[in-house]
Amino acid sequence: MAEYIRINEVADYLDKDVVLKGWLFNKSGKGKLSFLQFRDGSGIIQAVVFKTNVDDATWEAAQALTQESSLIVTGTVAADTRSKLGFEIQVKSLEIVNLSDGYPITPKEHGSNFLLDNRHLWLRSKKQHAILTIRSTVALAIRDFFDGEGFVNVDAPIFTPNACEGTSTLFQTEYFGDTAFLTQSGQLYMEAAAAAFGKVYCFGPTFRAEKSKTRRHLTEFWMIEPEVAFMELDEDMNLAERFTMFILERVLEKHRDLLVDVLERDLTVLETSLKGEFPRVHYNDAADWLDNFYKEKAKDPEWEGKTEFEKGGDFGGDDETWLTKQYDRPIFVHRFPAAIKAFYMEPDPEDPTLSLSVDMLAPEGYGEVIGGGQRAGDLDYLLKQIDAHGLPKEAFEWYLDLRRYGGFPSAGFGLGLERMVTWITGIHHLRETIPFPRLINRISP
Ligand code: 4AD
Ligand code: MG
Repeated sequence: MAEYIRINEVADYLDKDVVLKGWLFNKSGKGKLSFLQFRDGSGIIQAVVFKTNVDDATWEAAQALTQESSLIVTGTVAADTRSKLGFEIQVKSLEIVNLSDGYPITPKEHGSNFLLDNRHLWLRSKKQHAILTIRSTVALAIRDFFDGEGFVNVDAPIFTPNACEGTSTLFQTEYFGDTAFLTQSGQLYMEAAAAAFGKVYCFGPTFRAEKSKTRRHLTEFWMIEPEVAFMELDEDMNLAERFTMFILERVLEKHRDLLVDVLERDLTVLETSLKGEFPRVHYNDAADWLDNFYKEKAKDPEWEGKTEFEKGGDFGGDDETWLTKQYDRPIFVHRFPAAIKAFYMEPDPEDPTLSLSVDMLAPEGYGEVIGGGQRAGDLDYLLKQIDAHGLPKEAFEWYLDLRRYGGFPSAGFGLGLERMVTWITGIHHLRETIPFPRLINRISP
């Protein structure tokens, strides 16, 4: 009896008969030969049907097959030096499970709206398959990294009574006669957990009612948030650097082929980033650089971008793009103005208008992938901040307890999983890095 295996196992079955189950990707033929490009989720292999070697039913089935029909193939694994995989299947018999009729995604070019409308089918395409395979590897690498560093995984709730990252991007929902919000970040809960476990992280979906239609924003995305008791800003940056390098190393080790062959990713920057020592740039220096840069550019009458950067302001997508283009690896920008950051940031002792915050910006114009910093330790300062940010104090009482009962300095950060995968895979738009993207104008399929 032939054994049922998956395509990524064929190397162990040379010259043996096997059963494969999957879908027809593409097909060609000539005379008495049919060449089926066959995929099963673990890989793609060519299955060759030679009319003389099979019964009539199998030959007819091979002729009838359409793109994305599902089928069961029985055949012999043979060496094939012409294919990348190194093997092909010489078909002995073939059974159609379901004949697909008019599969909408054909090998021709389709517009992105059409593809997004058909996301449930688009997932089967080579490029999408590669991106989501890499996402899966990144997710596992993240867990392995924290596990290896002695962190405890503590999941944060999704229904929350309060805002963490400002009130303008909250999704609100009715909660048994009360109001709840979908979480924007698990950070506040991680601070509580850090007091229990020392080093913790959460990994879950987060929600932002972002009204922006940029290539960097989703309304639902996955965030990974470590929090470490008694850690300060410099060590936070060290952690983010080690963490990023660990992820890059894992993906390069496992998916060099997908990156180069399928995604046509230039690996130079990823490999340079593996050397570490991500430059650390003070916000004031970054702001001065941007201001000079725009003023210089503005001298060119053809220039259509900004003409200055006002110190004190937040970075927009373009600012991040120009700034990061100056570097060959990710950079940390630290000590943003307190006024543009969340209520919980520790003020900079050297200049209290600044905060002990940090963003890690990816090179090649990808921009912010990590945001974090040191948390404000002083109860009175936090009370003032909650007030100044127009937040309801009652909802934060539990958080303030962390300052009342054994307060401690702590720091952490949030990594946007999709931002990291977008940079690593080198694709243009964030929406292809999540299986079913949620955007301002899209909640389906
Ligand atoms: O910079 P953010 O808003 O930081 C926080 O939420 C902190 N509470 C994290 C912490 O310190 N524990 O978000 C963190 C990261 C960003 O750097 C970005 O990668 C991602 O989350 N992110 C988004 N990704 C996709 N779509 C959006 N709308 C995103 N907003 C933030
Ligand atoms: Mg941020």
